[in-house]
Parts: sequence; C-alpha cells; structure tokens
Amino acid sequence: MDKIIIRGGKRLSGTVPISGAKNAALTLLPCALLTDEPLTLRNLPRLADIDGFQHLMNQFGISTTIAGSRPEDFGRVMTLEAPRITSNVAPYDLVRKMRASILVLGPMLARMGEATVSLPGGCAIGNRPIDLHLKALEALGAQIELASGYVRAIAPDGGLPGGRYSFPIVSVGATENAIMAAVTARGKSTLQNVAREPEIVDLCNLLTAMGAEIEGIGTSGLTIHGVPRLHGATYRVMSDRIEAGSYACAAAITGGEAVLKNARIEEMESTVQALRDAGVTVEPRAEGLYIAADGPLRPVTISTAPYPGFATDMQAQLMAMLCRAEGSSVLTETIFENRYMHVPELNRMGAHIETSGRTAIVHGVPQLSGAEVMATDLRASMSLVIAGLAAQEETQVHRLYHLDRGYERLEEKLSLLGADVERVGDD
Ligand code: EPZ
Repeated sequence: MDKIIIRGGKRLSGTVPISGAKNAALTLLPCALLTDEPLTLRNLPRLADIDGFQHLMNQFGISTTIAGSRPEDFGRVMTLEAPRITSNVAPYDLVRKMRASILVLGPMLARMGEATVSLPGGCAIGNRPIDLHLKALEALGAQIELASGYVRAIAPDGGLPGGRYSFPIVSVGATENAIMAAVTARGKSTLQNVAREPEIVDLCNLLTAMGAEIEGIGTSGLTIHGVPRLHGATYRVMSDRIEAGSYACAAAITGGEAVLKNARIEEMESTVQALRDAGVTVEPRAEGLYIAADGPLRPVTISTAPYPGFATDMQAQLMAMLCRAEGSSVLTETIFENRYMHVPELNRMGAHIETSGRTAIVHGVPQLSGAEVMATDLRASMSLVIAGLAAQEETQVHRLYHLDRGYERLEEKLSLLGADVERVGDD
C-alpha cells in the first residue's frame, strides 16, 4: 500500500488538467453490452475503478483495446467490442471490489434477456441498497430473483416490454440501470423523478449517439422509445466535475489560485456557488475554470442534495476547505448515512468540527497541523489531502488505494500546482 507525504503551507498556483469523469465512465462502459458493434470511449481516466470495470467487461467476452496514448498523456481511448457475450454473470469476487459493477445488470438484461449479478453489499459511507434498481427493472417487465447473494433478472420471452416507473427517491445508479434496460425494450418506457446529474446526461447523450430515442434528457422525467438495436459510436467522456471541485478546494485552502483545465462551470454550479459564498473567486475561462482565494475564507451553510443541489461527493472536500474559514459553517449530509468519517481525522489535524447525526458544524481555525492520517473512503481521503496542503509541517495520508479509485495521478497533478508532495510505499 502507498502513502502520500505532503509538506503543507505552500500557496498553490498553476494549471491542472481535469480528467474524464469516473462516475460518467462507469455508466458509459456497460453500454458496450447494448451493441454488437465497436464502442469507442475517449478521455477515459486512468483509475483503479475503470481498470476494474474493464476486467469485468472482459469476463463477459467483451474485447477492450486501449488506443496508443503515451504514458504522460491524460485520458485514454478504449474501444470495446461485444459481438458475442460469453457470460452474463458478474461474480462476487469482482463485484465486491467495485460496487459500480451493479450497472451491468440493466444492459446485460437488455442484451441477453437474463443477467445475474452479485449483490454489491454496503460500503464505508452507507449500506447502499439496490432496491430501487430492482423495482425499476420490474416496472420495465423484468422478473427479479434474489438467491445466495446474487440478483437474477429475467426478461419474459427474452425481451423487456418497457413500462412506467416513478422513483420514490432520486437514485443515480438506479436511473442509469433503468435507462440502459429501456433503450432496446419492445415498447415505450416512462421514468419519473430520475436523477439529473450531468453523468446521466452524458449516458443519455451516448445512447442517443448509438441510436436510442430518449426524450426529456436532463429533466426529472424521461420517455424512452425502445428501438430494436443500437449501433456503435465514438464518444468523449465528460470532464470530472467532482475532481475539478476537489482541486478548487485545494487551491482555495492554501490562499492560492488554479486554472482547472477542461472544467465546465455549467456542470458545477452548486459547487461554484458554495466557493463564491466562501469568498473564492471563480471565473469561467476558455480553457476551463479559474479559481483564486485572495482573501479570507468565509463560513457557509450547505446541505447536500441530488443534482442540481450541492453534490454529496463534494461535501468532504468543501468541509476541509472550511476548516480555515473565519467563522462556523454548517454542513448537512442528506444523501448517505455515514459520510463524516473524515471528521475525526481532520480534528486530529487541528480542525474543530462537531457532528450530530447528519449535521456537522465546522468552526474555522487559524491553523491546521500536519499529522499521520488514515484514508477511509474516496472523498474522505481527498479531504485529508486538502487539509494537509494547508497544514504546517508534514502530513502523511495512508491507504492511498482509496484515492487511486477516483483521482488520476493525484501527486502529479498537485505538483503541477506547486504542492510539495511525494508518494511512497507504505510498510
Ligand atoms: C452514485 O452512487 C455515485 N457513484 C456516488 O459517487 C454518488 O455519491 C451518488 O451517486 C450520489 O450522487 C457512481 O456514480 C459510480 P444513489 P449511487 O443511488 O448510484 C439510496 C463517489 O464518491 N438508494 O444516487 O450508488 C442510497 O442508499 C461515489 O464517486 C436506495 O435506497 O448513489 C443513497 O442514500 C460515492 N436504494 C441514495 O439513495 C437504491 O436502490 C442515493 O444513492 C439506490 C440508492
């Protein structure tokens, strides 16, 4: 296992390339199941989760080739070809390592008429059930069976009829599974109260490029007219709005500035609003987004919410930045039940954060101090790195594999902003 050593206190400044979005790529990759023609995805980030998903697709008999991109390039081009599917089972040993594997359920069911996927189980931030995925697929006509830790979905006489479903709560993954199952259904499907995250729009745009007929893209109601088959496509994955927001917080906590190359303000409005409320300058530029914290940080009050609300995936990173604000901020985490695991570690670095249930009060402190800290989940890990960049002395963040799941070449990108960071093997 690796760790990252950060010698904090330096003001960051520079340009950092934002990679393709992990949470878009993880729903675009399984679309390869929906066609027997080549699907080429550009701007794929080099991340452990993407490698894991590629391996899962290979298990199904899907060939994946990476176009020649130099090691120093960011963003890869991957072509997936699925003329024949040799297995429609996503096994436990792969799913347990990457819960996003559940996103093969809908497209595999659509392609093969039957799909078996190991139940993903919970993770550090919550128990994360998949009941809405299953209810949506049933509404589209699937028969669902649960046995021995697996879910098996079956389409009546090999094809889904389509149907209507209104999500009781907004779910990104369940929306994605339902859309991927509906695009080649035999009839029309109507989905209400769907997630509206930009990653869902990216999915719908790819499927449209493959020949799907989807109305209402970007709204909370979708009408999908099933088509007999989808064709191949070449598609560029959107930029990672969460990675961009994370580097914005990193620059801001150091009183620095950054150009977030390829970041798109229209996908980050709630994050941009929170940064501006905290006194951070944010300006769209031709090449991306310009961030500058040239004055004291101000406290803010934020509740996470489904898009276009403030992203739960940005909560830990913003909290780290607000540790240096002049005053007390109030954060409320409404999406996941256990997403404050970064708090004890931030407090060990001199922060003053009190949590009660879903609410955290972040009392700003004049200084953070370096410490040895432990990463627990992806975004919590990034919040510790952000705090370390502002802390005096040295911070060591252990269990870097959590970060490698969602931040491409983190130490390299931080170095581009002038941070003094080093990645070393951890005994
Ligand atoms: C996606 O997870 C993201 N992951 C998460 O990002 C993100 O935090 C989350 O959406 C919310 O934006 C990927 O896209 C791969 P949900 P997902 O279904 O789809 C409950 C990161 O850091 N729920 O929108 O699993 C669930 O428990 C990761 O990049 C049910 O009750 O999230 C949660 O409380 C972490 N039943 C809420 O809905 C279900 O069937 C939102 O979950 C499904 C979800």
